Amino acid sequence: MCGIVGYLGPKEKKNILLDGLQELEYRGYDSAGIAVISQGKLQHFKAVGKLENLREKARDFRSEGLGAAIGHTRWATHGKPTELNAHPHVGAFSYVVHNGIIENYQELKKELEAQGVRFLSQTDTETIVHLFEAFINKGMEPFEAFRQTIARLEGAYAILLISEAAPETIFFAKNGSPLLIAFDGDEVYFASSDTAVIGKAKEAYYLEDGEYGFASAGEVRLFDRDGPKAFSTQPLPSDKAMAQKDGYRFFMEKEIYEQSSVIGDTMLGRVLDETIEFEELPARFFEGISRIKICACGTSYHAGLTGSYLLERLAKVPCDVEIASEFRYKEPLLSTDTLFITISQSGETADTLEALKMAKRAGLKSLTICNVDNSSIVRESDAAILTRAGIEKGVASTKAFATQVMVLWMLSLYLSQRDDKLDRDRRRRELDAMRRTPKALVVEEKLHERIHRLSKRYLHGHGFFFIGRDIFFPLALEGALKLKEISYLHAEGYPAGEMKHGPIALADAELFTIALMPRSLLYDKIKSNVEELSARDATILAISPEPFELADDFIGTQHSEHSMLEFFEMMVVTQLLALEISIRLGNDVDMPRNLAKSVTVE
Ligand code: F6R
Repeated sequence: MCGIVGYLGPKEKKNILLDGLQELEYRGYDSAGIAVISQGKLQHFKAVGKLENLREKARDFRSEGLGAAIGHTRWATHGKPTELNAHPHVGAFSYVVHNGIIENYQELKKELEAQGVRFLSQTDTETIVHLFEAFINKGMEPFEAFRQTIARLEGAYAILLISEAAPETIFFAKNGSPLLIAFDGDEVYFASSDTAVIGKAKEAYYLEDGEYGFASAGEVRLFDRDGPKAFSTQPLPSDKAMAQKDGYRFFMEKEIYEQSSVIGDTMLGRVLDETIEFEELPARFFEGISRIKICACGTSYHAGLTGSYLLERLAKVPCDVEIASEFRYKEPLLSTDTLFITISQSGETADTLEALKMAKRAGLKSLTICNVDNSSIVRESDAAILTRAGIEKGVASTKAFATQVMVLWMLSLYLSQRDDKLDRDRRRRELDAMRRTPKALVVEEKLHERIHRLSKRYLHGHGFFFIGRDIFFPLALEGALKLKEISYLHAEGYPAGEMKHGPIALADAELFTIALMPRSLLYDKIKSNVEELSARDATILAISPEPFELADDFIGTQHSEHSMLEFFEMMVVTQLLALEISIRLGNDVDMPRNLAKSVTVE
């Protein structure tokens, strides 16, 4: 979720780092920093907010001669976006930058504090630099100290470390977060994504998990669990825009594929063996709360609607959901035992922000589920749970929705723990299903190919109805919104049981019904709703693990006991369907007409 760069060579280092970070800024931008060791002198600069602030701070700095330099642009996970929490993190004579999350940092921190180490930040990353220096202080050689440090870390990381103990050297390690080493003659570059080094270096090696080593005097030594390792480089791509999309045709497509891994980030440190933890929630935050009101717009509203089923079912808290632009002008009756939850990808949506201010004026406690730390809605709220989806570039929201739903599911279980609302077995089943979610979100090539082939039959018609029941009703709303946003075809989401109360009058062969038919939830009910439509000659695309003989088209999903796993799998199907239809129609998938990513006007 953050970006890192490194450089070892004779050139002016500040600009190399800042230009590299500029390319990575789309991954996170709540703070940034650089550190340089050149001719024995260690220097660093950090700034909160956009990279321009760091550029301004380091304006007069120049570094001459051979040296090592590292930089980082941050998207906060542990600790607020302050200068102290910004990377590089500093010890007595070393600096580190890190992407990922060190899961056992609290245990390491305690150990180091017991040895007299003073921590400056609230981050997990700072433990790395102190651990390294503790080994050096015990008399270890720098590379051995680095190796021992890495051996103690649990979790995901891409790490670069520089130290006065080994000037003109960069230590590196990768496990679960991306990192590459790039070369131009004797000059060595590091980056979390190749966009940062395209145009500077000519070839690169993309590290595998478990690899680590050091670069010194133009040479890179690579190791893994079995010892020293040879590696070969490959030419770097020349097109930056393509590189940012990691080979996908559109950002939206890339973001659909990323969902499996970002959901892992959303759960990290929160889904524990037996419980759900939210470190960011103040103690006793829910005291005095007996109801929940969720308020949001668009896709975030659909996530909220999904959450309302989960909150009532798991946490047994009454919950209602409102569209922010409606809530603002309806003169709502509010009571202070209600927790006001806003959901927003951007954290800047004007209607959601104003609704939040109204609720605060009425004395309600507020919580936001948001993707952008330090955004207006986060700052305005009493507490925030960050979704950790990373920056979403496609205008049509995908991974942000997935992570919002995941947070709401975790929150429901978290609240159920308060008064033991669920028996042990049920809680365990929910936790098990959560852990299996990243797998349910993996996009199989065969599935994508099938949706691509099917999509050619859905480029016309007088409309689409996405139908579902229970949590699959908000998913139907979201599927229809995705389709209309990027295909410009008319689509509606509807509760399947409501079709016979009016909309069924539209049914004929040109009405496309996308039926969400999970096996784990109300299967027989939705089946008879779809049969009613089929009897009126509607064209049916059934999405289900269960073959359905009346379907004109069928997309088979996995059998799964838990409805949330079916939910996430069907979500991917509806996203891919919208994507493929839009591509066939020749539309601009990432920037559909008339839309903006962040709606800061009413
Ligand atoms: C649809 C979409 C929008 C947003 C809505 C709220 O793909 O992205 O419907 O969900 O504009 O935006 P946020 O979540 O930023 O408050």
